[in-house]
Amino acid sequence: MKLQYTCRPQMQLAENGLASQQVLVPQQLQQQAAPGALPAPLIINQLPAQIWVARTAYVWLRCSTGFTDVEYATMHQNSFSRRCNECFALLVLVVQGNELPQNLLESISGWIKGPNIPDQTGKVAVVSGFNSGIGYNTTRALLEHGAEVIGICRSDERGHEAVQQLKEQVPGAKISMKVCNMELLSNVRALASELLASNVNISLLVNNAGRFIDERFTVTKEGLEHTMALDYFGHAMLTLLLLEKMLSNGPGRIVNVCSMAEMFGSLDWNDMKGVARHTSGMPIYGRAKLSLLLFTYELQRRLRLAGAQVEAFAVHPGLVNSPLFSKMSFRYPFAVFTFAMSTIMGLTPAQGAASSIYAATHPELSGKGGLYLGPSYAFNAFSCCARKPVNPRAYDVDAWRRLWDETEAVIEEVTGQQSISGWIKGPNIPDQTGKVAVVSGFNSGIGYHTTRALLEHGAEVCNMELLSNVRALASELLAANAKISLLVNVAGRFLDETFSVTKEGIEHTIAVTYFGHAMLTLLLLERMLSSGPGRIVNVISEAEMFGSLDWNDMKGVARRSSGMPAYGRAKLSLLLFTYELQRRLRLAGAQVEAFAVHPGVANTRMFDKLTFRYPFSIFTYTMSAIMGLTPAQIFCCDYTPCGNNSATGQPRAYDVDAWRRLWDETEAVIEEVTGQQVPRMLPPVGTRV
Ligand SMILES: NC(=O)c1ccc[n+]([C@@H]2O[C@H](COP(=O)([O-])OP(=O)(O)OC[C@H]3O[C@@H](n4cnc5c(N)ncnc54)[C@H](OP(=O)(O)O)[C@@H]3O)[C@@H](O)[C@H]2O)c1
Repeated sequence: MKLQYTCRPQMQLAENGLASQQVLVPQQLQQQAAPGALPAPLIINQLPAQIWVARTAYVWLRCSTGFTDVEYATMHQNSFSRRCNECFALLVLVVQGNELPQNLLESISGWIKGPNIPDQTGKVAVVSGFNSGIGYNTTRALLEHGAEVIGICRSDERGHEAVQQLKEQVPGAKISMKVCNMELLSNVRALASELLASNVNISLLVNNAGRFIDERFTVTKEGLEHTMALDYFGHAMLTLLLLEKMLSNGPGRIVNVCSMAEMFGSLDWNDMKGVARHTSGMPIYGRAKLSLLLFTYELQRRLRLAGAQVEAFAVHPGLVNSPLFSKMSFRYPFAVFTFAMSTIMGLTPAQGAASSIYAATHPELSGKGGLYLGPSYAFNAFSCCARKPVNPRAYDVDAWRRLWDETEAVIEEVTGQQSISGWIKGPNIPDQTGKVAVVSGFNSGIGYHTTRALLEHGAEVCNMELLSNVRALASELLAANAKISLLVNVAGRFLDETFSVTKEGIEHTIAVTYFGHAMLTLLLLERMLSSGPGRIVNVISEAEMFGSLDWNDMKGVARRSSGMPAYGRAKLSLLLFTYELQRRLRLAGAQVEAFAVHPGVANTRMFDKLTFRYPFSIFTYTMSAIMGLTPAQIFCCDYTPCGNNSATGQPRAYDVDAWRRLWDETEAVIEEVTGQQVPRMLPPVGTRV
């Protein structure tokens, strides 16, 4: 069956093979629909009303859950938005039948990113499994755009056939091949030596070769389960062996072809070779693909830390009607199912290659290494957007790191080759001992990984949970800045269902969301006062309404909760601290002013960090997703705090005695915890303003 696709006019889209690219706009497509030909594909403007509703709802859901097309997958640790997305997709699939969603999705502008391949002249690519399916089409597209390709194939005969065919299809193609059965790591090592000896400047490595499930459990002569050996270890080893050379060649990319089957994978540190379960079926294919995905993430993490110009991408091709499935025997029920599904609704191998080509060549992906690209899991539509893996392991940074170490250990054991990736263990980062780093947004995404690397190399990163860190941070800021005129205290930690205390004995949320800011303010105040007019802005929250103060428990540990009461108390305290600060500033005639702001309910990553065992988490997550402002939206107006004082019925926020007492108690806690006095720049004068 020949499928047609709609796309935005400016996007080039390969309809049948990536060679014959053509820009199709809806009107042209309709004109092309000759009588008796296949009906023209549905175009979004002409969709029935219910599809419009579904489409709008779908796009809304994607936006409101922050599920954008290109984003760093590891920033998102929350599976709720992902599940919403996939469930909705499945719902549309069920309600609308089989044909429609494909057309529907292909019509949503922005979804289809046809590989608009720039000129690749001068680049040398290594593509494994180049003789068939996705690998063949990836190779062909690279050749058509001027790259030189070294194809890896396990069969001399099939390899030469493919080379011949590619030369016929792409006149002047610069293609050569190497034979290697990549199931054996000793072969991979020999292959890498050959490639390195040939002294070509490899800048692109596409780890594509793969084998699918097998009903027989089989082990290579090196003692690795067959699928694990090829689909994971072979690629990992080839990558590690070629990496140094690639790095010396300047900018480059490594593309690892993974699979949706990651969702069926699990890791087992006691059985890295995959032999314990005695299966070569779906669990092991899933494990191999999951491992390759995690390997890509860890590789990218290390490349970024090392400041390398090479970037690593993981892709999944969707369900593709390629020879992969016809190589299975059909006694294994899942094999029959996947074969049937790929035959009925699989993409063509040329379409399946789109993600690999996109990841390998597209300029818009520069600097976005670590993305996982491919079609939607639910729709299998021809598109290659950034995806979030389903398997929760994919977000477990400790698992990335451990997998890397265990992989090295297996490779070293099997091949006897030592320190295969010693160079990439962070050699470019000098010892940071004694340094205090300020990392804004330290607790998420890239900030998190930067922070982690600094910590690993001895730096102390000011995460503001520890007051001793805040003191060091303040000293650094004072040493570095003769003038400080604006201080915005934003960092915050939202509720947590597990009660936790910092090593300084303060409840975690209260430590970072209140004491950290109060202390930093007190320590920087003198410099700010001498710097002339200035402002201190403390970011509060409407959650102050849930807060109450307890003079006998300033550290917030008595209730053994890090939930809403702790968050509410932290924010209420920061509000009262701001009022008292402003009162003292005014009395002292200072040119610095203090403001408290609250951002409203904003749909930020703060909510993504929730786990959903705490009912309030579900509520706040849902509210932020449904009606949250975007992080960039700010509406300014007066706000009357609610506060809370169950004893008197008078809101705490208006209790000036509470302001004063809170200030004194705060100073006392800080001095007790850090063993040092806080400067008393603004002594209290009188009780009321
Ligand atoms: N098709 C899908 O729906 C789908 C979905 C998700 C992921 N993938 C992944 O996409 C990649 C390409 O698969 P495909 O669909 O294009 O299948 P394919 O046509 O069978 O291609 C697989 C390639 O790997 C080669 N290969 C197999 N065993 C090898 C070995 N021991 N050493 C070296 N090369 C070996 C094959 O060579 P021979 O021709 O000699 O067998 C072939 O060139 C695979 O990694 C697969 O897991 C495919």
